[in-house]
Amino acid sequence: MHVLLTGAAGFIGRHVLAQLLERGHEIRALDSLRPDVHRSGAAWAAPRDVEARVGDVRDAAFVAEAVNGVDAVIHLAAKVGLGVDIDDMPDYASSNDVGTAELLAAMARAGVSRLTLASSMVVYGEGFGRCPEHGAVRPGPRLESALVAGDFEPPCPICARPLAVGLVDEETSFDPRNAYATSKAAQELYAANWARATGGSAAMMRYHNVYGPGMPRDTPYAGVASIFTSALRRGEAPRVFEDGRQRRDFVHVRDVAAATVRACERHTEGVRAYNVGSGTPRTVGDMAQALAQALDGPPPVVTGQYRLGDVRHITADSSRLRRELGWTPTVDFADGMAELAALSQELPARPRVAAG
Ligand code: UD1
Repeated sequence: MHVLLTGAAGFIGRHVLAQLLERGHEIRALDSLRPDVHRSGAAWAAPRDVEARVGDVRDAAFVAEAVNGVDAVIHLAAKVGLGVDIDDMPDYASSNDVGTAELLAAMARAGVSRLTLASSMVVYGEGFGRCPEHGAVRPGPRLESALVAGDFEPPCPICARPLAVGLVDEETSFDPRNAYATSKAAQELYAANWARATGGSAAMMRYHNVYGPGMPRDTPYAGVASIFTSALRRGEAPRVFEDGRQRRDFVHVRDVAAATVRACERHTEGVRAYNVGSGTPRTVGDMAQALAQALDGPPPVVTGQYRLGDVRHITADSSRLRRELGWTPTVDFADGMAELAALSQELPARPRVAAG
């Protein structure tokens, strides 16, 4: 197939690009090389045999030209991260939603009917909790007063009892809690509108916490695994927020890329969402511990700090992806963390960056 891949120079994009090539696809790769992600002046060494174009999907003329003649689009280009305050909103809306809308409009004009979209588990917000009395409930946003007091678990919205963690499936409704999550939910809604209006197909890949080789380091978009390895490389303890018992599903980037390529190849009708997780949730504290051991560094420090807008637990049921697309994750947690630790030892230690 002739595939257009946006965000091809990014962390996940580079792995998707490599796997598309391995599977014999012809690729047109786009990236804007935005300076807050890619160090300024950094060249993009796209593999040979890939038609690489530098530009922004918000540029209507650029994107119209880019979709010409392709069979399918994998849309990864986005501003990631958390979105810490309201000032972030315009850039999330513009980068993620205006960009997607321009791309979809160009696809419709060019008759390109297959889309695979990078979405996120954060569209579900707090997901589900199980109350001993009220069963499955959707917890509300955590109050800052509760976080200050060290009450990190969101309570039952009816009786305020503690909740057991439940797994969200793809039918769970959206409840985005920050600018990034909102922009991802909106991307999905635009894509679904486009698919209905044009008869196109859209696979929404709701990624869990992706880690692995090539993770962004020392940028605002670094995930927690990368932040912890960087700290350990400086000889410092990983600083674990809240009480360290918040749960995430850390899924390896090669597995995420494989799921994405599979969806691009196999999903050809209608709109379908897929949770993309390893299926084995871990706590952030456990992950810090695993990396500290692998790098022979100081043990993690649990700080009690919090980020407003952070979801407490993000754990999903990813069985639909296994069932319908025949995907299985191949990298287990211990091996993946050991690989991350080994790779970080090959990098030069970065000078300590003063906290801003
Ligand atoms: C991550 C992704 C997001 C994706 C989502 C899907 C990043 C930067 N964000 O969000 O794009 O949509 O997964 O599930 O990859 N923490 C610490 N210490 C730190 C930094 C963070 O303890 O120094 C904690 C946070 O409070 C949070 C957890 O680690 O509880 C994960 O944080 P982070 O890696 O930023 O990812 P998410 O917010 O889960």
